[in-house]
Amino acid sequence: MKRNIVNIGIVGFGTVGSGLVSILLDPKSELSKKLGFDLRIKRIADKDTTRDRGITLPPGLLTHDVSTIVEDPEIDIVVELVGGTTFAKDIILKAIKAGKQVVTANKALLALEGNEVFEAAGKMGVDVGFEASVAGGIPIIKVMKEGLVANRIQSVYGIINGTANFILSKMTEEGASFNDVLAEAQRLGYAEADPTFDVEGVDSAHKLAILASLAFGIPLSYHSQYVEGISRITPLDIAFASEFGYKIKLLGIAKSDGHEVELRVHPTMLPRDQMLAKVDGVFNALYIESDAVGPTMYYGRGAGARPTGSAVLADIVDIARNLRHGITARVPAFGRPANEPFKVRKMSDVTSCYYFRFSVHDKPGVLSKISGVLGQHDISIESVIQKGRKEGGSVPLVILTHEAVEHNVKTALEEIRRLSVVEADAMMIRVEGANGR
Ligand code: HSE
Repeated sequence: MKRNIVNIGIVGFGTVGSGLVSILLDPKSELSKKLGFDLRIKRIADKDTTRDRGITLPPGLLTHDVSTIVEDPEIDIVVELVGGTTFAKDIILKAIKAGKQVVTANKALLALEGNEVFEAAGKMGVDVGFEASVAGGIPIIKVMKEGLVANRIQSVYGIINGTANFILSKMTEEGASFNDVLAEAQRLGYAEADPTFDVEGVDSAHKLAILASLAFGIPLSYHSQYVEGISRITPLDIAFASEFGYKIKLLGIAKSDGHEVELRVHPTMLPRDQMLAKVDGVFNALYIESDAVGPTMYYGRGAGARPTGSAVLADIVDIARNLRHGITARVPAFGRPANEPFKVRKMSDVTSCYYFRFSVHDKPGVLSKISGVLGQHDISIESVIQKGRKEGGSVPLVILTHEAVEHNVKTALEEIRRLSVVEADAMMIRVEGANGR
C-alpha cells in the first residue's frame, strides 16, 4: 500500500532552509493537492535554534542535534542546507550510509567532492537530488537530465552567478566602479559569505562543473576548468565594449566537439542584441545548444530563499513520489549510468576573438608596432579605437581581433608589454558571438 506521509529532515535553517520551510508550511500552498500525500517535516537541525526567522514552527521540531535526523529510521529524505565542504559532506555520507535519500543545494561540495558522494549513493542505491545547486530556482538540472534526454548537448553558456551579473549590470548602467557596486551587492545580501567566490569566478566554476557533467556525462572536473573573475573589469572597458556593440558578462562556458571539452569561466563580451547579453541584475540564465531541439534558453532567479527553496522542494517531491512506488535512483544522478571518456582542451589551445586595451604613448607609429606584433602571431585585427581619452599620461588603444589561438595571444601580449611605447599590462577580454560565432 502506498504511504500517505513521507518524512523529511532538514539540516540547516538559514536562508535556503527558511525558504524551503516557508513554502512547505504556506497555508495557501497547493502542494498536497498536487501530490495526493503529505510531506512532513519531521525535524530541523541548526546550530542556532533561537533566531527569529519569521516562521512559526510546531514545538520540538527545531534541534541542535543533527544525529536526531540522520539516525531517525522514520526520516526518508535528509535535506542538507548547511553549505561548506566538511560538515556537509559528513552529514551527506552518513545519511547515504543509513540508506536515506538526500537533497542538497551545495554546489561547492558537489563540484569538489561530488564524485565520492555519487559513488557512495550509487553503492547504496539512493538518490542525491541537487536541483538547487545551480541557478537557484531555474529547474535546469531536470531539464538537462530528463527534458533534453533526446539531445546530444554541444554547448552550455551560463550566467550562473547573480552577484557578478548584478555588479556588471550596475557598472554598465551607471558607469560605477567595481568596488562601489560590490559593496552595494554585499549590503543587499547577494554575495556569498566570501565574495571572492562570486567575483573571482569560483562560484560560477562550481556550478559549471556540475553543468558539464550533466551535458557531457563526464566526471565532476572542477580542477580542470579555467577560471577568471571580473575584478579587473573597469568602467572604461565597459564603455569601449559598448562602443563596439557589446556587453560584458561573466560566463561559464562548457563546449564539446565530440573529442575534447572546453570548460571555462571568464568575463566575456557578447553582442548586445544576444539574449544572454540582455540578462541583467541578479538574474541567471542558461543558453544550451543541442542537436535535436537546437538552442534553448532558461531564465530566472539564481539565488534567494524562496527561489532556491522551490528547487530543493522539486527534488524532495521527485524522490517522495518515487518512494511511494518503492523506487529509488530511477534516473541516474547525471542522466546516464556511466561516465564518458573525456579530455579537457588546454586553455592555451582554445580559440576565441579578443578585445585588447593597451595604455600607450600617443605618438606616430605606435599602432603599427602593436599591429606588427599581433600579425607575427597570426592575430588579425577586426577593428580599432583610439580616442585620446585621458588616462594618466597615456591614451587607451583598443583593438578587437578575429578568431585567434589563446597561446598566440598570450605570447603577443607579452611581447607588446615589453615595447617602450606601452605603459602597462594590456586588458584582454574574450569575445563570443562575434559574426554569429
Ligand atoms: N552567491 C550566489 C550568486 C548565490 O550570487 O549567484 C547563488 O548560488
